[in-house]
Amino acid sequence: MSVDGIALDFKAIGAILGIGIVWYALAVAHADDRQPDIARGAAVAAQGVAPGAPACAQCHAYNGASDGSGAFPRIAGQPDYYLAKQLRDYASGVRTNAVMTPIAKALSSEDATDVAAYYASVNAPFLPLKNAKPMLIKRGEQLAKVGDAAKDLQSCNNCHGPGGAGEPPAIPYLGGQYARYTAFQLAMWKRGFRKNSPDSMAGIAKRLDDQEIAAVAAYFQQVDASAPAATQPKE
Ligand code: HEC
Ligand code: HEC
Repeated sequence: MSVDGIALDFKAIGAILGIGIVWYALAVAHADDRQPDIARGAAVAAQGVAPGAPACAQCHAYNGASDGSGAFPRIAGQPDYYLAKQLRDYASGVRTNAVMTPIAKALSSEDATDVAAYYASVNAPFLPLKNAKPMLIKRGEQLAKVGDAAKDLQSCNNCHGPGGAGEPPAIPYLGGQYARYTAFQLAMWKRGFRKNSPDSMAGIAKRLDDQEIAAVAAYFQQVDASAPAATQPKE
């Protein structure tokens, strides 16, 4: 029992340190690149890039809050590094989606960097949404904050931060994200359509059954994410 507990802890620490070092190296490697142009990114969001990339605002709204349907993720205030990486991953096929793959392929590297910097800089309000049943949310909260030792599952907030507020540059916020989108991403990792960050997220998604996916997605949607991460100035 205690031996298991120790093994689990070492694994968790190892995972965090290991990927942390890679992210840090990537972040440093990118530090010398051209500075992102937020105004140019705002123009990409509003008008798109011809040919092939329609205005992002059509689906994500100009302020990045998208709409309450949950078909499109909220992207406002996500770390710019994370957003730009997703665009590159769609373009390279590491992450596949019928809508986003062709759009990402139509963006130049500068377009992707600039539009990511623009959406990262927007502080958009959270739309009022109907929430799931309290029982489901409670189970989700447990997974988010504690994990499940019996399933060798560390807590989501271990990596995604308290309240799932995100850990820039590489880890996105989950707090306030649409439940439908979050559940869909976990299913995509389980089925192998989302292959980015395989070490961290694929293994986690595979340990969750459908009910647990619904629970954790419902929990994160109703976390009051308008509190710290969204209102504090970025470092
Ligand atoms: C026609 C609708 C549509 C348009 C236009 C669109 N998107 Fe998307 N976007 C989506 C959908 C749907 C997803 C979720 C895809 C998935 O499940 O992987 C998505 C996902 C994303 C993600 C991943 C977010 C995350 O949290 O991982 C980013 C980044 C993104 N879009 C950026 C953009 C940018 C930048 C533009 C404009 C150049 C754009 N999108 C235009 C529909 C759209
Ligand atoms: C070991 C660290 C780690 C743990 C623990 C973890 N995640 Fe993640 N998660 C990540 C990383 C890294 C990414 C970014 C992947 C990428 O670059 O595409 C991510 C991305 C995600 C995304 C995609 C968000 C988006 O906007 O598309 C979802 C959803 C997610 N995690 C849910 C969860 C849930 C639910 C749990 C707990 C059951 C969890 N994560 C636990 C590291 C972790």
